[in-house]
Amino acid sequence: NSFAVRRGKYFGTAGDWVYANVMNCTWSQIATDPSEFGVLTTGNSQKWDTTEATQGVFNFDAADQFVAWGLKYGKKFRGHTLVWYNQLPAWVTGGTWNATTLTTVLQNHITTEVTHFKGKMMHWDVVNEPFNEDGTYRSNIWYQIIGPDYIPIALRAAAAADPAAKLYINEYNVEGVNPKSTALLNLFKSLKAAGVPIHGLGIQGHLIVGQVPTDMPANFNRFVAAGADIAITELDIRMNVPPVNQTASFAQQAADYATVAYACKVTGRCQGITIWDISDKNSWIPGVFAGQGDALPWDVNYQKKPAYYGLATTL
Ligand code: XIL
Repeated sequence: NSFAVRRGKYFGTAGDWVYANVMNCTWSQIATDPSEFGVLTTGNSQKWDTTEATQGVFNFDAADQFVAWGLKYGKKFRGHTLVWYNQLPAWVTGGTWNATTLTTVLQNHITTEVTHFKGKMMHWDVVNEPFNEDGTYRSNIWYQIIGPDYIPIALRAAAAADPAAKLYINEYNVEGVNPKSTALLNLFKSLKAAGVPIHGLGIQGHLIVGQVPTDMPANFNRFVAAGADIAITELDIRMNVPPVNQTASFAQQAADYATVAYACKVTGRCQGITIWDISDKNSWIPGVFAGQGDALPWDVNYQKKPAYYGLATTL
């Protein structure tokens, strides 16, 4: 973070109160160190299944504790996330809705949550993962029942509840130029043209060692040319584990982290980079991508890997 701040950017990580409070003190030591991280994202505790598990009954306890803890250490926050297809409670996915009733549910959720955290979130990932790989809209419950208008509805509700927060649409596999990133760009342009409150595009950055797109700066530049701030919001660069040649794989991973950091550095409106957790001990990758892991700059013992230096010395 100390390097990033000199360029007017930030370096951040994702976590939750279970990490900060319970899991271990090494995590907290690294997360609170201002030379390492300036910004925190809640990994899970601001998602719908946690915050409104029962319709109309809101529970912000876990996120409140994490945010209060982070604020004590001078951290800023990215709120994550308000409308997504995943981590939804059964009352949403299994409910009987029409466009009017589901719009009310969506607006009530966003208004209540964003109001609760008003003034504390620098950014909100308002919409998460709205596209398919081919650039068509993901047919999630919001799209099926409300149609593509669920996106401006969500953004307007968030802006009304906290006019100072910068509002983002967050997506994966949009690092390079491809049909999905083009769809994201076109959505941003059309929202802007319609006067919908939208400030930024979150590029998740769940990447694979040796397969990092080479056209990131060009892609980021077309987002910026359309008037968007951008942020790398969930960076991790995974490999097959255990790697056949750890030294070589870790060296390639360091180069890949540097490539991403460079793309943010040369993009003036790239606000910063968030890695999706700190160490290979807590990463979500092995649980979701079988046989893959070692994706983060700190290893399972919280020791810095070559990836850390690739990133830190470049950003
Ligand atoms: C992941 C969390 O890290 C896991 O703990 C959880 O089980 C599933 O979600 N894209 C996102 C994040 O936007 O919210 C996801 O986080 C990772 C993929």
